[in-house]
Amino acid sequence: MTDRYAVVGNPIGHSKSPLIHAEFARQTGQDLSYEALLAPLDGFVATIEHFFAAGGKGLNVTVPFKQEAWRFATPNISVRAAVAQAVNTLKLDASGQIFGDNTDGLGLVRDLMVNLNFPLKGKRILLMGAGGAARGVLLPLLLEQPSDLVVANRTPQKARDVIELINDHLPVAQFNGFDKAATHMTASNYDDLNQKFDLVINATSASLSDALPPLPEGVFAPDSLAYDMMYGKGLTPFLEFARQQGAARLADGLGMLVEQAAESFFLWRGARPDTAPVIELLKSR
Ligand code: ATR
Repeated sequence: MTDRYAVVGNPIGHSKSPLIHAEFARQTGQDLSYEALLAPLDGFVATIEHFFAAGGKGLNVTVPFKQEAWRFATPNISVRAAVAQAVNTLKLDASGQIFGDNTDGLGLVRDLMVNLNFPLKGKRILLMGAGGAARGVLLPLLLEQPSDLVVANRTPQKARDVIELINDHLPVAQFNGFDKAATHMTASNYDDLNQKFDLVINATSASLSDALPPLPEGVFAPDSLAYDMMYGKGLTPFLEFARQQGAARLADGLGMLVEQAAESFFLWRGARPDTAPVIELLKSR
């Protein structure tokens, strides 16, 4: 029987996930359907409970429900979802329980390390933003052992809270060969940034309103990569600023979108799709 999956959000009409997962299913020969599900703003839990009661196997969760999905699935969640306080993937497990995970950070790390050939070990990383998007990628970035991981936010207390949250979870998390002391992790506001970075990631929602985070000049190291987790036609204000500031490479979040989908697909189906042709397909549309 065809297994049923969906992405749930509000709005959901423009989601690329149905196309991405249809391509993954075709590539790997998996018998599944994947649809877009609009949940009323006050009806997320009812929508997903109905979906699973009707035989659904797994869901992706998008704006604005990732935090509600985290609350719904807790305590049956991964450590990275606990640090993110956000769940983007729900899976009906073998015992009939719903498991929550967050594949956004792995998606970003894979896009950086595999697609963009940008190793993270020993690198100086600036992560801008301290909302759900930033929390979602923090632990997978840290596990790659950069030398510095600075979280900058307009409201610096939120950046401090995010770092405290990750420190709270690290003692319970077991990760192979991970050395917490290898990374100098700090919170900052934008004005106090006075070092250069190899990688600057925009995890704020500023690009959504065509705004630029108040990044000072001179933060891009000569070989640096500027990465905006948003994607769209043309450069975001952040990528345009990075270009003017001499960042060597610019990337938007399209690769991350496809890679987080591939991680969800792998979690559900145990099969790893080839992401490169799907990224190319989306670029061409
Ligand atoms: P998301 O889930 O997309 O991360 P969020 O939780 O509302 O959304 O967080 C938005 C993030 O973008 C916050 O870090 C916010 O900074 P503040 O905490 O200081 O509000 C950041 N942000 C939004 N617009 C911004 C802008 N124009 N410049 C800088 N940061 C911005």
